[in-house]
Amino acid sequence: MSKKITLSALLIFAFFLAGMAVNPAVSIIPKPVKMKMGSGSFLINDRTALLFIAGNEEAMNTARLFAGHLQMAGGPVLTALGVGKSYRTIAGIIFSIKRDGHIPAEGYELTVSKNNIIIEGASGAGLFYGMQTLVQLLPPEIYSSKALQPGNNWSVPCIAIKDHPRFPYRGMHLDVSRHFFPKEFILKYIDLIATFKMNTFHWHLTDDNGWRIEIKKYPKLMQTAAWRVDRENLPWLERPPQQADERANYGGYYSQDEIREVVEYAKKRYVTIIPEIEMPAHSVEVLAAYPQFSCTGGPFTVPPGNYWPNVDILCAGNDSTFTFMEDVLSEVISLFPSKYIHIGGDEADKSRWKECPKCQARIKAEGLKDEKELQSYFIKRIEKFLVSKDRKLIGWDEILEGGLPQEASVMSWRGLQGGIAAARQGHDVIMTPDSYCYFDHYQANPKTEPKAIGGYTTLKKVYSYEPIPGELTKEQSKYILGAQGNVWTEYIPTPEHAEYMAVPRMIALAEVTWTQKSLKNWTDFRTRLNSEFKRLDLFPVNYCKGSDKIEVSTYFDKNSQSMKCQFESEQPGIQIVYTLDGNDPTPASPVYNGPVDVNKNAYIKAGLVRDGKINELTERTFIYHKAIGKKIIYLECYSYRYTGGGEEALVDGLRGTVDFREGNWQGFLGNNLDVIIDLGSIQPVRTVFITFLQSNKSWIFFPDSVTFSLSSNGKKFHSINEQLNQDPKKTETNVIKQFSQIFPDTPARYVRVRAKNTGICPPWHEGKGEPCWLFADEIAVF
Ligand code: ACM
Ligand code: ZN
Repeated sequence: MSKKITLSALLIFAFFLAGMAVNPAVSIIPKPVKMKMGSGSFLINDRTALLFIAGNEEAMNTARLFAGHLQMAGGPVLTALGVGKSYRTIAGIIFSIKRDGHIPAEGYELTVSKNNIIIEGASGAGLFYGMQTLVQLLPPEIYSSKALQPGNNWSVPCIAIKDHPRFPYRGMHLDVSRHFFPKEFILKYIDLIATFKMNTFHWHLTDDNGWRIEIKKYPKLMQTAAWRVDRENLPWLERPPQQADERANYGGYYSQDEIREVVEYAKKRYVTIIPEIEMPAHSVEVLAAYPQFSCTGGPFTVPPGNYWPNVDILCAGNDSTFTFMEDVLSEVISLFPSKYIHIGGDEADKSRWKECPKCQARIKAEGLKDEKELQSYFIKRIEKFLVSKDRKLIGWDEILEGGLPQEASVMSWRGLQGGIAAARQGHDVIMTPDSYCYFDHYQANPKTEPKAIGGYTTLKKVYSYEPIPGELTKEQSKYILGAQGNVWTEYIPTPEHAEYMAVPRMIALAEVTWTQKSLKNWTDFRTRLNSEFKRLDLFPVNYCKGSDKIEVSTYFDKNSQSMKCQFESEQPGIQIVYTLDGNDPTPASPVYNGPVDVNKNAYIKAGLVRDGKINELTERTFIYHKAIGKKIIYLECYSYRYTGGGEEALVDGLRGTVDFREGNWQGFLGNNLDVIIDLGSIQPVRTVFITFLQSNKSWIFFPDSVTFSLSSNGKKFHSINEQLNQDPKKTETNVIKQFSQIFPDTPARYVRVRAKNTGICPPWHEGKGEPCWLFADEIAVF
């Protein structure tokens, strides 16, 4: 026994030493599969030979890209030369592709010794990723034209790395319709994608607010659909449409020559560009140019901001609509070599189709059940065309409605359900669930961040994302090809702002999609990200430094039979101070160094100490009651989008605030709240209350009614009358309401609370007919 302990202690010590041996300057993102430090380094100077296997064009290109990096950074100017296949002992940097199958797809092996650096890729892509890792092993100045720090040189530590990606699809999207971005920025965006070993750029080229791709056959797309009236001085949601005497002069498009240039640039960096042409909805800009493809005939103008619902969509009863789309797609296909062509398919409001004689005639002629099946008809017809051109259709998850051809693939954005359903039906799936992958959401305190569309998706949350939904079997999981970050640009008018929203969340997603699940570690990632920030400063990239917000959570500690409160922050190594009595903490307040007891009511305040000051306080009310930390059974499910902290959220003592993004509210989308709390033993219950939030702007409404009931055995419940909500459902601001019930000292073990969701947004609301939210923060039992 003691021998065993000694051995394991030794092993731990050896592991510790091995860990110590990793040069702190080595900071690779995404984290590689295997890494072993050697001793010494390889110095790159102007006598270094840069070699590729003679005749291999891909190896030559990547060697040249590396030479370009060095030269741009003011390093030695090296010329890439061809060598033969026996390169093991040759001095220099060798770029080689070994397609013998011993390195997994897109993988590479990088060996740095004092004599040479050898990069062997499983393919051109693998070699390129090996080169990106080599770049990350150089001083950060490699990313800039700034001179090396005095005393620094272009040396690479001796190391052996074996690496390959977890998922074949690692993507970033950019919406260039809501705001137009110049070609130069698109190239920089592709550089960022490639730097972090992502391999797909989803180019959202068309939407209601502007058409962005030259199509030779339809000149009005460039003359009319690409331009809108300039309302940039007004908030996105408050922009009146174009008036008769106004000129539409805000926007632009990419010429076919520019697109060819971008595609070629991306190809050299192993980035596939998937073009997206939206249909049948999100296409009113097309109707502004060609109203004959609408159901009503128009006229239309290109909207300068938002309008909802989005009723004017392409007419599915009109054959000329299909001719138009097929002509457009033919030109798109001639420009983009991508196997996938994205056809949108999201958010198609069917009201025009319901009233349109042509659409109704189509439904009849094709024997379709309803407008949902008409959408499916639309998608299937386009799919057939794409397949005839040897391409594959991909679209947003709405394309599943009414049936989808087997070969089509799905981008799951409305949560996980679309992805789960598609994988179960055997469709390939890209996961882009909004609550993890929408980088137009806030990433830090909305009070101090630039205005965003909404949501709250921190860096840490993105990093926590697991692309394979737990609901899938191993077999079904194979259909999940990877994940993608989406950058919608309603609130993002400039390239600098787009960078700020995308970075560093895209770096977190790069690690989510590249790094093996077992190697993912937030603390380690966050430490490496600090090194990455130094590189991004020099690049330069306008990145966000992450949230300063302190996350407060509570849990019941079974060992000490005590309720504990813990604080977490996205900023590593920065001190957190706190108080529990409602006083504002100062830098002299208690320093957080592990979970603290909270066994009575408390007013929790916590903040980070930076430069001797506290710049952002997190405040939470904590109420201590009988149900705290007790078991809760859900008879209806809460949404994964607003978990409030998970299974214990309704009995964790933490109250939500009117700012629901702070994370303490649990949301039920379209369905009711119905839970049973098990107090563990029969005890007198006098009062139970539950609190709800209403936010019309965010489609959150008070419940229609609440019912409280008690039981001693968990089977037979004694209900008290249903309490109807008497307060208005229409409120200007976010409001909180409590429903409470007094019981005459009733002995009970089980407490059931049911709250009836309004179900759908009311007729006066912008989301009329769509599922609405019910938000609760706590059920308190006294
Ligand atoms: C989407 O966000 N409408 C795909
Ligand atoms: Zn129609």
